[in-house]
Amino acid sequence: MNILVINGPNLNMLGKREPGHYGDVSYYELEGIIKERANRYEMDIDFFQSNSEGAIVDCIQNAVSYDGIIINAGAYTHTSIAIRDALLSIQAKFIEVHLSNVFARESFRHHSYLSDVAIGVISGFKEDSYLMAIDYFANGVWQ
Ligand code: DQA
Repeated sequence: MNILVINGPNLNMLGKREPGHYGDVSYYELEGIIKERANRYEMDIDFFQSNSEGAIVDCIQNAVSYDGIIINAGAYTHTSIAIRDALLSIQAKFIEVHLSNVFARESFRHHSYLSDVAIGVISGFKEDSYLMAIDYFANGVWQ
């Protein structure tokens, strides 16, 4: 199984950015933690991070060979019809993840353009949100 993890705007700032919401793990460390979990399952994993909406759309359009996608679209979650349309244009199914619990925050974060077309949404478990998504893809059940 091969999985693509996409991270959107400002997630490259992890560790330095609002640690109360996003934790103190850096983006580089986050990739390492995810890789380690994927290795347990002998899952192939690739990463993409961009602050640009168009680059994320391009990445999704090119993600034809993946079995699944884990996406934290950052603030684009709440604004981007283009990312939603791109995710609907490919075969791979996706899980929407967030480090913070978006429902416990400002009301503009409560709406997502992705949630209703995702397999599911995992929000509020910091880096464990990504690990739960890996577990789901590996097993089809929560561990
Ligand atoms: C986020 C939540 C978004 O509302 C925010 O804009 C982010 C990060 C999260 O992981 O909690 O950039 O997606």
